[in-house]
Amino acid sequence: MSTPSPGPASPAPAPVPARPGQGAAADGAALLRLRGIEKHFGPVQALHGVDLDLPAGKVTALCGDNGAGKSVLTKTIAGIHQPDHGEIVWEGRRVHIRTPRDAALLGIETVYQDLALADNLDIVQNMFLGREKLNRRLLDEDAMERLAVETLASLHVTTVRSIRQPVASLSGGQRQAVAVAKAVMWNSKLVMLDEPTAALGVAQTRMVLDLVKRLKEHGLAVMVISHNLNDVFEVADRIAVLHLGHKVAEGPIESFDREIVVDYMTSGRSTRQVAEVGAAGRPPAEPAGGVRDGQSRG
Ligand SMILES: Nc1ncnc2c1ncn2[C@@H]1O[C@H](COP(=O)(O)OP(=O)(O)O)[C@@H](O)[C@H]1O
Ligand SMILES: [Mg+2]
Repeated sequence: MSTPSPGPASPAPAPVPARPGQGAAADGAALLRLRGIEKHFGPVQALHGVDLDLPAGKVTALCGDNGAGKSVLTKTIAGIHQPDHGEIVWEGRRVHIRTPRDAALLGIETVYQDLALADNLDIVQNMFLGREKLNRRLLDEDAMERLAVETLASLHVTTVRSIRQPVASLSGGQRQAVAVAKAVMWNSKLVMLDEPTAALGVAQTRMVLDLVKRLKEHGLAVMVISHNLNDVFEVADRIAVLHLGHKVAEGPIESFDREIVVDYMTSGRSTRQVAEVGAAGRPPAEPAGGVRDGQSRG
């Protein structure tokens, strides 16, 4: 935080126009497009030429077994890791996201599993941490409270007793809610949640899934990492699967069922067809935009 950022995620010299219809999403120009993202740590190749589209107004579930590269990919978008190769295209322009601050300036917020909230601070203080509102050089507590309450209300978060209670006293689900509300309040365009429900009970999981749906209704692009296929099939519009650092599948939720996702997660391929595709009147799933069965490995 103390070192000055090299500036907002600087557009590359030649902006790359988005090409709607191209690639696996094929549902309009994605807000964020990754193309050919490579990342290694010493001898460990964590990501191999990953392409991924994150469209606005859609929830994309990122699935994969432990070690598949989900968190590394998320952190690459969040400005924590730099890709070794590949392009990040944001709203049609190629960008370099060098720091989390660059990501925040673009409108990218990440809610990590361990939730970077400050336990000793209250909800309002957490939501404004580092971006406090001032009124004649004094903290504008009234304005911050009002905005925090409005944002939580807009997300239908009603279980919080007082926005002045310390975050340490909140349940896991409420903490997630505060982290998500913070993202919404700062006019984010993309919110990424890394395993948001992993540590939550049933009721709290429900609340977080409802929040995810509400983010989408607000027109945001949402990426949710989850092991829980119940969650995935409840909230996702699209699924992408990573296997050993390769993206092995990406497409609309209709072109997957649980067994197919498990196939891709465990072996990187699937020969199954979605059951009842014909009955639902849907065309047989073109292998998720041509990337099922590991074709993206080139
Ligand atoms: N900072 C790091 N340094 C070295 N290796 C890492 C680092 N972060 C992740 N990895 C490796 O990259 C691979 C993908 O990890 P990760 O993205 O955390 O998987 P997951 O899909 O479970 O989130 C793993 O082999 C992991 O050990
Ligand atoms: Mg992870």
